[in-house]
Amino acid sequence: MLPSQRTLFDLPREVCYLNAAGWSPLPLAVQEAGRAGVARKGRPWELAPDFAAAQHERARAAAARLINADPGDVALIPSVSYGVATAGKALRPPAGSRVLVLEDDHSSPVLEWTTRAPAEGFAVETVRRPGNGDWTAALLEAVERPGAPPVALASVSSVHWSDGGVLALDGVARTLRARGAALVVDATHAVGVVRTDVAVLDPDFLVFPTYKWVLGPYGRAFLYVAKRRQGEEGVPLEQTSHGRRGIAADRVPYLRDLSFAPGARRFDMGERDHFVSLEMAAVGMEMMAGWGADAIAGRLRALTDRMAEGLRGAAGVRLADARVRAPHLLCLEFPDGMPEGLDGRLAAEGVHAAPRLGRLRLSPHVYNDEEDADRFVEAFRKLAR
Ligand SMILES: Cc1ncc(COP(=O)(O)O)c(C=O)c1O
Repeated sequence: MLPSQRTLFDLPREVCYLNAAGWSPLPLAVQEAGRAGVARKGRPWELAPDFAAAQHERARAAAARLINADPGDVALIPSVSYGVATAGKALRPPAGSRVLVLEDDHSSPVLEWTTRAPAEGFAVETVRRPGNGDWTAALLEAVERPGAPPVALASVSSVHWSDGGVLALDGVARTLRARGAALVVDATHAVGVVRTDVAVLDPDFLVFPTYKWVLGPYGRAFLYVAKRRQGEEGVPLEQTSHGRRGIAADRVPYLRDLSFAPGARRFDMGERDHFVSLEMAAVGMEMMAGWGADAIAGRLRALTDRMAEGLRGAAGVRLADARVRAPHLLCLEFPDGMPEGLDGRLAAEGVHAAPRLGRLRLSPHVYNDEEDADRFVEAFRKLAR
């Protein structure tokens, strides 16, 4: 099994950090990349002419590798909501159709559709959380519900941020495609840990940020765009010079060829040349690829299972069935309510977990170890009494 990678982080022994799903600490190597990037910006005359292109393509390739994509199908963007808005520019759900979202899914894959629905006449249907926690079955059932209006698209997370439920989207994607419907995936809590393969899944758009599971900075995210969405309707959110084939500051005429750059590069954000964060993002993603999703998932499953086992029989706590939860998230439900101030009291003991919609979310990463898992259980049993 992958051993704990704690020594690669600036993580004091007395800190038990179980909130990677909130934001992860940066590996030392990523911090170093950030410092080097700042120093470079201080002396821009030292950069080689091909520096910018090399930085873009390194990050693009690192992101593509994590989702088994062609780098040419990946755009450099700043956030998940930006990616969904980009998808929203191409996708026009017809009046009378349905757009499916998950109950209490993060706002980023949802608000694009709820905002537009009244004016455009489509309905946003919220798939309710099923009692058994099986989001995959619930989503599939909603897609296939007999007599319901046609589904135009599903815009869903592949791992639910607040309950840790994992969605096996391959079958859902096939069913959507067979109905001519699109799929937008917010893979924030999947990429890097839960194997994500766009060649198999074949979504229309898939987006993930770097600041949580892939150990990078804020302000960096990546958008996969299926080739079928790179045609006429593939108009980027921002109109940038690098999104066009022939706009260069060192050549006349300046606006030489305004046709869109090939592939997903046209969707690259304005000011993509933030080399400080771009290199940090690349280093974090390369580290993740080096360990591999299966090894990371195996490690984190062992830690969340260990905590689940340690909590067995704890009064007033319910855990989702291991079958429906992601390997790296353990969300504690409290049928009678979470004890008042629990997260604050845990934090005072050096144990950091996140309260999310009434649950306590534990999200270990490669820097955690068995000692952290046991420490959480001990602190919880003491404080939740
Ligand atoms: C599922 C999910 N999607 C997206 C985000 C972040 O969205 P954005 O990059 O639009 O700020 C989060 C952050 O918590 C999240 O949990």
